Amino acid sequence: MCGIFGCILKEGNAAPLIHASLKRLEYRGYDSVGIATLNDNKIQLKKDQGKIDEVHRILNLDDLPGTIGIGHTRWATHGAPLKVNAHPHSDCTSEIIAVHNGIIENFIELKSELQNLGHIFASKTDTEIIPHLIEESMKTNPSLSFAEAVQETIKRLEGSYALAVMSTREPDKIVCARNESPLVLGVNGNGVFCASDIPAFLPITNKAVMINNGELVILSPNGYEIKKIKDSTPVNREPETIEWTPEMAVKQGYPHFMIKEIHEQPQTLRNTLRMQDNYLDLITTFLDRASEVFMVACGTSYHACLAASYMFSKLAFLPTYPVYASEFVEQHGKSVNIDSTILAVSQSGETADTLAAVTCAQQRAATILGLTNVIGSTLTRVSRVYIGTQSGPEIGVAATKTFTSQLSVLAQLALRLSKKRGKISQDEMDCLEEKLLQLPDTVDTIVRTQEEKVKQIAKKYKDSKVFFFLGRGISTATAFEGRLKLMEIAYIPSIAFPAGESKHGPISLVENGFPVVFICPKDDSHKTLIGNIMEMKARGAHIIAVIEEGDEQIKALADDYIEVPKGIPSVLSPIPFAVPLQLLAYYVALEKNYNPDMPRNLAKSVTVK
Ligand code: F6R
Repeated sequence: MCGIFGCILKEGNAAPLIHASLKRLEYRGYDSVGIATLNDNKIQLKKDQGKIDEVHRILNLDDLPGTIGIGHTRWATHGAPLKVNAHPHSDCTSEIIAVHNGIIENFIELKSELQNLGHIFASKTDTEIIPHLIEESMKTNPSLSFAEAVQETIKRLEGSYALAVMSTREPDKIVCARNESPLVLGVNGNGVFCASDIPAFLPITNKAVMINNGELVILSPNGYEIKKIKDSTPVNREPETIEWTPEMAVKQGYPHFMIKEIHEQPQTLRNTLRMQDNYLDLITTFLDRASEVFMVACGTSYHACLAASYMFSKLAFLPTYPVYASEFVEQHGKSVNIDSTILAVSQSGETADTLAAVTCAQQRAATILGLTNVIGSTLTRVSRVYIGTQSGPEIGVAATKTFTSQLSVLAQLALRLSKKRGKISQDEMDCLEEKLLQLPDTVDTIVRTQEEKVKQIAKKYKDSKVFFFLGRGISTATAFEGRLKLMEIAYIPSIAFPAGESKHGPISLVENGFPVVFICPKDDSHKTLIGNIMEMKARGAHIIAVIEEGDEQIKALADDYIEVPKGIPSVLSPIPFAVPLQLLAYYVALEKNYNPDMPRNLAKSVTVK
């Protein structure tokens, strides 16, 4: 999740405006920054790694001539957060320059095709192929206008993008395009702007034009022209007036980052499904070779590991040990050795306990694999191989979108390992792969159809003194995560157990009206789980069940239920089933007048042991 901005001004220098606008997009990422302007038919460029203020202090980003320019603040996905990978990126002739937010899935094929044609690449990014493809297109077909060459190029891209491109050949234009990554235009008396998000230009104009998937935009001193990428059909769209305050705009109109991030999950899950095969394959190879695998993490990331231990066991017959990172050194520090593999999972990549576990294992020559949302974090530097979860910055303290992204990547690893080891049938594999691809839509359906219902449930149970969360098998991890969310932001003491364990002690707490949340995918545990629900009901518990649509048996037993779409395989169930629990925690916190984005005593990244 990067931020892009471009502008064509009637008066004044573009660079200071681009700089100020990128600052307002910094919440989308801040690994590196770059600005390019066009002046006297030449591209002027400044870029470097680091936060915008740091780079500005050294380079003076405002000091670039010209009334037209583009800029970028980066959240690294392909290539480390280094100067060489900072946007904008240009072609071989330095006549075409581009900024991009998104992931080009087929960039490896396109890059090698371009290399065979003699193109030289400077960076490891997927973006750099875009100016080179445009260059190639203009070379092979000189009659094309700049916008037509961009259009031809975009037709070859697979994946997500919001991009803005300039060329010295038509120095009064910026061409932009969108597929899945956000893009919006702004207009005022002094010019036109394109940006990843409205906050970028809100202080200078509240007149915005939303750009849809599959659209190309030509910005010029005369204004903007929108057309469909596939067939050039013109699109007429007038600016609308945005009533948001700048603070509301950063949250895209949502009252809190947490709910915005819950709603972002269909998109972040789509991003995780665009993971490059080579990284997934490399980690799969290490896992395949390992004689023992410890998955170390804290908090929500630990719950992702717990769920993954079921995935690896069921799909790839690989036993793994999920371990709280804070316990790892005491529990396994002496036995871990050269044959051990550590898969460390951390949203921030900076959690002190996770890094301490990694350091201990590294000193004993174990292999370190990393899964993190922050490329360039300490975890990426100490891992033999790492994967980024592609969720974009998470600002709400409670992890939501990064949890489901971690699960999606871990599920993909388990599926790959299963395939490599030939552990499940082709039919089962096909079905799981298909269901995995459907998860973004499944989560979208849940958020759209169940949010109101969850709000009502939150109202009903907001004064409960304690909650139980129960599930069987892989849903134990979902139950743990539901409980952590509710405890950390709504401050309600909560207990989670594997449902089968509840009668070995915790059930003694249950009395009339005691809320028990059951996680009920329709898997092998369904029948037994019904027995556990009956046990609780018999003692007066109120049952809140998260069920599959049409699960009449559990509907009949539950006091309240939340439905997720049918047919979700057990091993993938924590992804959709966690979403209603995130919503429940959020709305209970609101009912109790707590700010879910800033729970007391907590920090987004815990860098002390
Ligand atoms: C809970 C939460 C924390 C983190 C934990 C680990 O909502 O956010 O429990 O999951 O502090 O953080 P990372 O994943 O950054 O290592």
